[in-house]
Amino acid sequence: MVTDARSRSRGILDRIGALLPFLVPALLLLGLALAGVLVDGGRLFCSTPTLALDLPSERAIPAAVEVAGMQRDMVWQFRYAPIGTEFRSGIPYWIYRAMPRLFPDDLDGRGYEKLGFTSDNDHAYYASRPVPRGLILTDTELQVPPFPVAVRLKRVSFNCASCHRGGWRDPGDRSIHLVDGMPNHTADLQGFKRYFFKNVHSERFNPRSVLGAINEELASLGSPALTPTEELVYTGIVEVMKRQPGREWMDRRADNGPRRLDAFTAVKDEVLGVPDDGTVATVDFPSLWNQGAAIRPWHHWDGNTADSRARNFGSTVGVGGISMSVDKPEVLAVGAWTEERLRPPPWPDALDRPDPASALRGRATYLARCAACHGLYDRERASIARAAKGDLYMTVVDVKTDEGRRRAFPPAAAAVLSEFGGRRNLWGFSAFRGNDPKASGYLALPLDGIWARAPYLHNGSVPTLDKLLGPPDRRPREFYRGTMTYNRVEVGFEYDAAKTDEGRERLFLYRTLDSNGAPIPGNGNQGHEFTVADDAQRADLIEFLKTL
Ligand code: HEC
Ligand code: HEC
Repeated sequence: MVTDARSRSRGILDRIGALLPFLVPALLLLGLALAGVLVDGGRLFCSTPTLALDLPSERAIPAAVEVAGMQRDMVWQFRYAPIGTEFRSGIPYWIYRAMPRLFPDDLDGRGYEKLGFTSDNDHAYYASRPVPRGLILTDTELQVPPFPVAVRLKRVSFNCASCHRGGWRDPGDRSIHLVDGMPNHTADLQGFKRYFFKNVHSERFNPRSVLGAINEELASLGSPALTPTEELVYTGIVEVMKRQPGREWMDRRADNGPRRLDAFTAVKDEVLGVPDDGTVATVDFPSLWNQGAAIRPWHHWDGNTADSRARNFGSTVGVGGISMSVDKPEVLAVGAWTEERLRPPPWPDALDRPDPASALRGRATYLARCAACHGLYDRERASIARAAKGDLYMTVVDVKTDEGRRRAFPPAAAAVLSEFGGRRNLWGFSAFRGNDPKASGYLALPLDGIWARAPYLHNGSVPTLDKLLGPPDRRPREFYRGTMTYNRVEVGFEYDAAKTDEGRERLFLYRTLDSNGAPIPGNGNQGHEFTVADDAQRADLIEFLKTL
């Protein structure tokens, strides 16, 4: 069957060859629309097509199986609804399936699981889905001028939950617990992006091999091979994907690894097109709860905006939304939910119960040493008590942590990004403020649900609370990231590969120094030396932090 499909596609390709002079202009337009390289080609997406081209292979895509009586409520919307990123970064489903077949080596033969996209074990809404946790499948319908014809195509893309829904594994019974708004600790978004950008430029990514791989995927599901029309469509898609510009800026910076992203350099390079200034803005995914202005009047690690639309739409644009495609009602609904409804998860009793006497002693230390900057979160009321007049809560303070992220967003970048969104009615014309390169730092932020926000600091450079609050020379220079196994003693994810379920090969080695012993820009774990040297006193403080 597989060989049949291959020889058939060869015959088709020969026939296409003869037609090529006529087809190229139409295909190019089609491909441009599909790959979404017309960054602001809004008109391709707006008018209602009069005729739709149905591709039979779309019906071969395994269906999502809903749980009986499933309600599409706000939580469903957050986890599964598209937000509009598919138009620029969505990958046609069959290309997504064909890639691991064509390029298995970069994935160690494990498919997308290698990049942290593991199965969704949360069966509240679906018994099964055709894509793993962290990815969604979206219907897209594109009009191809000058013909009044649209192609219906499902594409694989990201939504807010791709980065902002994560989980932890109980070291006792090995069960995995997923939490909305917790950073997705396993997903390697840069790895995913790089996998595609690297391989579409290789020789092996050509119409013939892609059509062959798609047909093999179809055959493995017992479905018929692509029709001649579909082969034309996919030939166009392949040609245009090959013409995508590379993402060289990523190669000039250290690997992000799972749960980290250089969102602001991506925006500067890929959306704003400003020349590479060499700065590194790689950060840890933040948590999403309590985004209301009473607790978080400023957003992003460097507090560069107070505008909630800039915060929500900015994330969409950063991962491939374009002004026309951003699903504004959906994104605004998710944004409002993070402000009004989403609260931090309590420390799980399954891990242990915080000792009340110890936590009370820790509270005293916290009030004396930490509250002036971090406020005191009241879990019952979901509110913050401020320490005193003149405290530094939610102001930008220089505590001498890695300077990469704050240097990456100077006033000039803020002006360009504000203007970009202002013109497109995504946010206000002065929505972003830049960081003064001489006197700046990061937000002194609330510590609500801090147990679920490990690893710590804006760049995720310190694995546990114990390491952050202990003597600075005990912070590990390198450690493993990407396991969900939780370390309840130190409070954070396990960082010693031997103590994880995954083991060394499947985790990411985070390094602060390169092989010559030189600091890796963006990866430093110095600063924030508000340490508690006494072991017992530190244990009490950590016991208290578990209750926030
Ligand atoms: C590809 C990963 C990714 C996706 C998808 C994503 N975000 Fe984010 N988000 C980030 C990163 C990284 C930051 C931190 C950026 C920084 O400060 O440099 C962030 C910051 C935020 C913040 C600010 C948090 C704070 O405490 O300052 C909010 C709120 C937010 N995102 C909401 C959203 C919403 C809503 C969506 C969907 C519309 C979304 N994000 C999609 C990665 C993502
Ligand atoms: C002078 C203000 C200040 C004081 C005092 C202070 N911090 Fe911080 N803290 C900050 C700032 C600013 C950051 C953000 C630094 C960064 O991300 O690089 C931070 C970050 C943190 C983080 C990491 C948050 C995250 O999401 O990763 C934790 C945990 C923390 N502080 C705990 C404490 C504790 C506990 C104390 C008291 C022993 C304390 N801090 C004292 C200003 C302060």
